[in-house]
Amino acid sequence: MGWGDLGVFGEPSKETPNLDQMAAEGMLFLDFYTASPLCSPSRAALLTGRLPVRNGFYTTNGHARNAYTPQDIVGGIPDSELLLPELLKKAGYTNKIIGKWHLGHRPQFHPLRHGFDEWFGSPNCHFGPYDSRERPNIPVYRDWDMVGRYYEDFKIDLKTGEANLTQLYLQEALDFISKQQASQQPFFLYWAIDATHAPVYASKQFLGTSQRGLYGDAVREIDDSIGKILKHLQQLGISENTFVFFTSDNGAALISAPKQGGSNGPFLCGKQTTFEGGMREPAIAWWPGHIPAGGVSHQLGSVMDLFSTSLSLAGLQPPSDRQIDGIDLLPVMLQGKLTDRPIFYYRGNELMAVRAGLYKAHYWTWSNSWEEHNKGIDFCPGQSVAGVTTHTQEEHTYLPLLFHLGRDPGEKYPLSFASDEYQRAVEHISGLVQQHKASLVPGQPQLNVCDQAVMVSAQSTDALGNLWIKIHFIKCQCWEGMLGEEMHGHVLVASLIRDRADPSFPF
Ligand SMILES: *[C@@H]1O[C@H](CO)[C@@H](O)[C@H](O)[C@H]1NC(C)=O
Repeated sequence: MGWGDLGVFGEPSKETPNLDQMAAEGMLFLDFYTASPLCSPSRAALLTGRLPVRNGFYTTNGHARNAYTPQDIVGGIPDSELLLPELLKKAGYTNKIIGKWHLGHRPQFHPLRHGFDEWFGSPNCHFGPYDSRERPNIPVYRDWDMVGRYYEDFKIDLKTGEANLTQLYLQEALDFISKQQASQQPFFLYWAIDATHAPVYASKQFLGTSQRGLYGDAVREIDDSIGKILKHLQQLGISENTFVFFTSDNGAALISAPKQGGSNGPFLCGKQTTFEGGMREPAIAWWPGHIPAGGVSHQLGSVMDLFSTSLSLAGLQPPSDRQIDGIDLLPVMLQGKLTDRPIFYYRGNELMAVRAGLYKAHYWTWSNSWEEHNKGIDFCPGQSVAGVTTHTQEEHTYLPLLFHLGRDPGEKYPLSFASDEYQRAVEHISGLVQQHKASLVPGQPQLNVCDQAVMVSAQSTDALGNLWIKIHFIKCQCWEGMLGEEMHGHVLVASLIRDRADPSFPF
């Protein structure tokens, strides 16, 4: 979802009455960021409080590449990372994730192995449908067990855009909250819905109800669900001891704008880019009786702050044996105390830009490659800015492009290199960059390698009754939109003699 998708941020159709109300009762963050312009890394950052380059959710095999965890990715969240639910457990919290996990789908990355007690949802995006032989449909889990697959058991109608997933996720959330309230146990609910992610979907009662098309229908259903969750907390009498935060994991994807695209308001470009449209997020904090109603904050915030803030709320200290990038937002929300801190904009392994105060310096510019762009993939449709939204990776390390986001939120008019203002701001930001880089200990990159053998393989039986299993060993680079394009390697075919007498044989 994008910054501009909410009525309270100026979306002209005003179709998010519940989120707008949440903001009226809570605090609106206008300068709040995700940690990556892509879903997997930003979700890993939210749950670890650490930049993707530290927690391993990045690649080193393609400079500045965005990478994520599709079905054939080998990596996932390392055991060495401490996730928010793991820590909250120590304070007696029951933790549930509803919806998309996206931190790895192999057994060792299962959310119940990383601090969550319950899960209803999926390890991946709801891409598909696939043929379920070479490439299986994405599974849906309840706790440890797979309970079905998208398109088969959990239908998504690509023609009409109808799917009931948000309603299922809503019911799960309401039930979980009721159960926790009844047992008087503290809880952490990570409601990780994905209806605004392509292929966009909404349930029948919302289809066709928005002025904005199917994407707007999806936003309306999410908005309606959030209203129901907040109301549920109020009805159960626990709203004054429940902290709720709404945000998104990346800016709206503009690749299919306007048909399925959201709005990033006045900001440049969208998902996949380190321009403001890719990383500045809608953000609302709500905690009646504590956070003053109608507050508006210019604190530079990050999804990683939710890690530190949640620990603080639970009376816990953040881990001291590692660098945590999040800060505790309670002083901002409860006392209006601002903290001066920079925002780092990464793509993969490259620090692309840094914001300090109202200044943003770009050390690298890139939207996407000419090759991709020529195929019609556009992260900045209708928004080309010469020398800024470049289709080659342009290095500006020695003379960063500098924007004043107050006067120029759309990043269209770089400041003159010769001005005093430029000199002062760049000197300050360069100091921050030096400090950041000097202390940076990159994590083991998790997203370098795909291997289709980690999916179900194709199988067939020949005339002699031999079972043939095709095992793919295809190394590829995984990033959204490019999957399968740079695959190389070889295919092994193994022959097994089927022993029909052996009941343990899996097929
Ligand atoms: C959604 O649920 C309704 C009511 O149970 C059902 O009629 C409809 O077929 C479902 N739609 C999809 C796409 O699964």
